[in-house]
Parts: sequence; structure tokens; C-alpha cells
Amino acid sequence: MTASLQTRPLTVLGIESSCDDTASAVIRHAPLDAPEVLSSVVWGQTELHADFGGVVPEIAARAHAEKLDLAVEAALQQAGLDLRGIDAIAVTAGPGLIGGVLSGVMLARGIAAATGLPLIGVNHLAGHALTPRLTDCVEFPYLMLLVSGGHCQFLHVAGPEQFTRLGSTIDDAPGEAFDKIAKLLGLPQPGGPAVEREARQGDPARFALPRPLLDRPGCDLSFSGLKTALLRARDTLVAAHGGLRQQDRADLCAGFQAAVTDVLAEKSRRALALYMAESPSVPVFAVAGGVAANQTLRVALERLAQDAGARFLAPPLALCTDNAAMIAWAGIEQMRAGLSVASSFTARPRWPLDQSATPLIGSGKKGAKA
Ligand code: KG4
Ligand code: ZN
Repeated sequence: MTASLQTRPLTVLGIESSCDDTASAVIRHAPLDAPEVLSSVVWGQTELHADFGGVVPEIAARAHAEKLDLAVEAALQQAGLDLRGIDAIAVTAGPGLIGGVLSGVMLARGIAAATGLPLIGVNHLAGHALTPRLTDCVEFPYLMLLVSGGHCQFLHVAGPEQFTRLGSTIDDAPGEAFDKIAKLLGLPQPGGPAVEREARQGDPARFALPRPLLDRPGCDLSFSGLKTALLRARDTLVAAHGGLRQQDRADLCAGFQAAVTDVLAEKSRRALALYMAESPSVPVFAVAGGVAANQTLRVALERLAQDAGARFLAPPLALCTDNAAMIAWAGIEQMRAGLSVASSFTARPRWPLDQSATPLIGSGKKGAKA
């Protein structure tokens, strides 16, 4: 990487295909200026997976392979550019469903070979974790809660490749739990927005659902017991009334959402206390990932950040959920920092941000947990 690539304006094409969103974007960044999202195209696959109650990896991979080049074309067109206006390509190289990741990596390699452009393999989780720098130009370090359908972790973010995990889920990710309970209650996918909608009409106190792991110290989280408790409450209602009434469903959703919020809020409070003990002069708490779209959760997290004297950042929803703008931005961060920009990277189903943290067990919507 030449010094000029670290200091001159850069325009980077991003490609993302690690789960069920086919995405491409163009970001321009001049040092000392705020980055500009010139375009961000995200094509979801919800209807392709609707009959299966979850993401089917083979269907996702085929859909990415069919649509990715069109998404790249659309992103370039919306940015008013062709490939001659691009300085580098950044592509998600993992973690995620490997067929989809490979679709993106193969397309990116093809474009790089044809144009001679540098190619950067980006960790999808780094894309989420670096988003507050794209949207709000925050300085390092900051505390990040990454909370999505595939992941749930607290990260101390100190640089483009410096992540320390303070805690994580030991089983399901919260988005995955929202999706599963939506299925149990006969609501559509993705479950999060459907459960949030139902919960507006519900009484969060009617069912005594557990708050897993709050009785144990530390920042690790668990959501699978909560899902089982909800299943039991549902079965009791079905046995008593022969089915679920509308109010039952709303109350179950409200109770579930309240329990998830309580757990995330209390564990965030602990993670923030740990973080602020180390970095008291830069108290920034940021959230990213699809579950960060949940209004009840956002309000709770903002309140606890305020109470702790920290600034709270929640990127706009389109940049919380999976997108390629965050991948292009993470690529720019790597280039600016003079980090490994090697076209020889491999696609990886599992790729933890904090290599020294204990591996997580199980797999979720996005395959192996990182
Ligand atoms: O970040 P994302 O788009 O993809 C992953 O990396 O997983 O997150 C998608 C997840 C889904 O599980 C979806 O149900 C959840 O985010 N989600 C929500 C809401 N909107 C999306 N969960 C709770 N409340 C919401 N409003
Ligand atoms: Zn994601």
C-alpha cells in the first residue's frame, strides 16, 4: 500500500452477501472530511425463504450469484460512476453462510482481475463495529453492542482491527430469538419487526418470563431459555383455550420484548462500567445490527448510557442492518491504517473479531457463531 493511498481521497466499492441480503455500495472519503455514502443498494431475500421459516443457505447462495453483479451495477449507477472511478473493492470475506460469502468473493476477484484494482477482504462484524465511524465520525475507542440475527457481543473497539470482546451470547442471538418466537406465534419473518408491532398492543407484565444470566456476574448473555419459557406459556394458553387469542399473542410478544430489553440493558450497563473504567475520557456507547431497530430497546439503551454519562449512538436503521456501505467503509479504514490489503485472503464461515476470546458454540441464522 503506497503512502498516497493512505492520504488521498478514496472511492471504494463494497460487496456484501454473507446472509440473506445482496448488497453493494460506494463510499467516498477524503481524510479530515466525513465519509460520503454515494450509493447503498440492499436487496433482501425474505420472500425466497418465507416458506421455510428461516434462511436456506443454498437458496441464499444461488440468489446472491444471480443478483450480485446487478447490485454492483446499480450501486455504481446510483453513485454516477463506472469502475474507472473506483480506487479499490472491499468484499465481505466472512463470517457467514459460506456459499453466499463465496459468491461475493468470486465476483470481487473477477472485477479486481479485470481492472487491476486492489481487493480487500473484510470481516462482516468489523463492518458493523466500525459503522459509528462512518455515520458519526467517532474517534477510537468506543464500546459497541452488536446485536443482530446472527450475533450478540460487546466489543471494546480501539482500531480498525483492534477488538476486545467483553461478553457475548452463549446460545441464541437476540434477532434469532425474535425470529423463532415469531414462528412459534404464527407471525411472519423477519420476526423482530412483527413481534415489535404485536407488542404495542400487549401487556409486558402478564407473563412472568425469565431474565437469563442476570443473576451471574459479567457481560455474557443467553436467550434460549427465554424462548423455551415463551413456548411453555403459549402451550398452556393453547391447552386452556384451544388456541391463541389476539390479546394472548400481543401479551406474549410484549413480555418477550421486555425480557430481551431488560437483559440487554442490564448487561450493557455492566459492559459500559467495565469500558469506562478503562477509557473514562471517551465515554461512547454505540449499537449496531438489526435488533438495534427495536424502539423499546433503543430507548432503554439510550437511558442507561445517559445515566452512566456516556454518549449514545445508534446509526440509521439502513446502516444498522446488513449493508455494503459498512463493508466499503471497513475497507477504507484498513487502507488508511496501512493494514493487510492482500488479494490472497480466503472466504471464512467463522471469523471472530477478537481472536483471543473463547470460541462461541452453536450456529445461528448466519451459520457458525463467531
Ligand atoms: O443485522 P441483520 O440485518 O442481519 C444479521 O446480521 O443477522 O439483523 C436481522 C435481525 C433479524 O433477526 C430480525 O428479526 C432482527 O434483526 N430485527 C429486529 C427488528 N428489526 C429487525 N429485532 C427486534 N426488533 C426489530 N424492530
Ligand atoms: Zn450483520
